[in-house]
Amino acid sequence: MSILIKGGRVITAADDYVGDVFVEDERISLIGESLDVEADRVIDASGKYVLPGGVDPHTHLDMPFGGTVTIDDVESGQTAAAFGGTTCHVDFVIQPQGATFAAALDDWRSKADGKQVIDMGYHMAVTDLKEGGTLEELASLPEQGVTSYKLFMAYKGALMVDDETLFRTMEVAAETGALVMVHAENGDLIDVLVRQALEAGNTEPRYHALTRPPEAEGEATNRAIQLARVAGAPLYVVHVTCKEAVDPIALAREKGWNVWGETCTQYFFTSMEDIEKPSFEGAKYVFSPPVRDKSNWDVLWNAVRTDALSVVSTDHCAFLWDGQKTMGEDDFSKIPNGGPGLENRLHMIHEFGVRAGRITLNRMVELLATNPAKLFGLYPRKGTIAVGSDADIVVFDPSREHTISASTHHSKTDYNLYEGTTVRGSPAVVLLRGNVLVENDRLVASPGVGQFVARAKFGEELKGGRAVTA
Ligand code: URP
Ligand code: ZN
Ligand code: ZN
Repeated sequence: MSILIKGGRVITAADDYVGDVFVEDERISLIGESLDVEADRVIDASGKYVLPGGVDPHTHLDMPFGGTVTIDDVESGQTAAAFGGTTCHVDFVIQPQGATFAAALDDWRSKADGKQVIDMGYHMAVTDLKEGGTLEELASLPEQGVTSYKLFMAYKGALMVDDETLFRTMEVAAETGALVMVHAENGDLIDVLVRQALEAGNTEPRYHALTRPPEAEGEATNRAIQLARVAGAPLYVVHVTCKEAVDPIALAREKGWNVWGETCTQYFFTSMEDIEKPSFEGAKYVFSPPVRDKSNWDVLWNAVRTDALSVVSTDHCAFLWDGQKTMGEDDFSKIPNGGPGLENRLHMIHEFGVRAGRITLNRMVELLATNPAKLFGLYPRKGTIAVGSDADIVVFDPSREHTISASTHHSKTDYNLYEGTTVRGSPAVVLLRGNVLVENDRLVASPGVGQFVARAKFGEELKGGRAVTA
């Protein structure tokens, strides 16, 4: 099967030109001006952007968390992603305490079997190196294409690890070529503040934010950076929300250290005003780290512009408001933490980043596709439009209006963080490895089309599906 995408404005992290992109089977085989080739199908992209499929390195599909399970499974979550122009994501496998990493991986793979709509990889969230997984087993994961380890410095009594586990994992990562990811909040401090709030009778959703101050994020970010320095491991700080965490990351990067930071779409648009909404609506905005004061919006836009932060992900961790978030109606600490977003990252960042003049189109592609692909061992297969790359392509119509709503989105959750927002610019056609996934607002391909992608080790490139040293 061959497809010719004709006359679109091809935009990568580096380039911006009008041209034709020729796809044969799963890959891009030719790019040029007015290509004279026969194709099984021609897609007229004039007036449209031709973007690499989005890569979302931070999602939680079908994940047990907070006394329940995230509402989007692999099929619904990936369908939402496809409609939003994301063609590859990296999900978190959570090691249950006492279980081996192999058992956790098997479990996650069985949840994905036959349901995959887009391509995916896995990070391993390490929760226990005493009873379950061993350091040796952890060291074997990069050879299996699982080339990033995640540690939670918060969620005491659930996913949180101590500094010893964090540091030992970092040491293994330094040896095996894995990237260490941290959820950076001081879990001990938060635990004390939560208990004090509840003892004082403060149970509403806003206390979720008030018991997780920005200093808790700043302290843990600093600690993780210093520990990674000692271990000699590369570090990626997930879901950065505030100046207290941006500053140490920016400083580490100025020094040339191997430290990167990510923020998520929702942190540019939500604030304390949302979590304070009446009638328990504030619970929709309970995620961690929490919503912050609005002054942080400019801090984050500036950070993604200057590369203090290098990726925008979604941290898609969707729960129903009615039935799951309501578990915490009488106690904010029982509200499952997380929010939806997989479908709307490109919509929102294009509208309020590019169209509002905050970032360029090239930078948008870099933040949503190229940088996550590079950092997580998917580049150049994913994250760019180039000869030899997978034909994961978004034909994006910059003039198409789209109003975001839970009534039309593809996640199973019953609310949308951006409800009622009208954006100008939306995917018209989405291709995954040369298969048309989305067209005319319909999912055209069947679940099963997506694949697991073995990722390259940190600092190595993925060529032809195999990791090769750069
Ligand atoms: O509240 C959030 N972010 N839930 C998902 C788990 C995590 O911390 O990333
Ligand atoms: Zn987290
Ligand atoms: Zn997360």
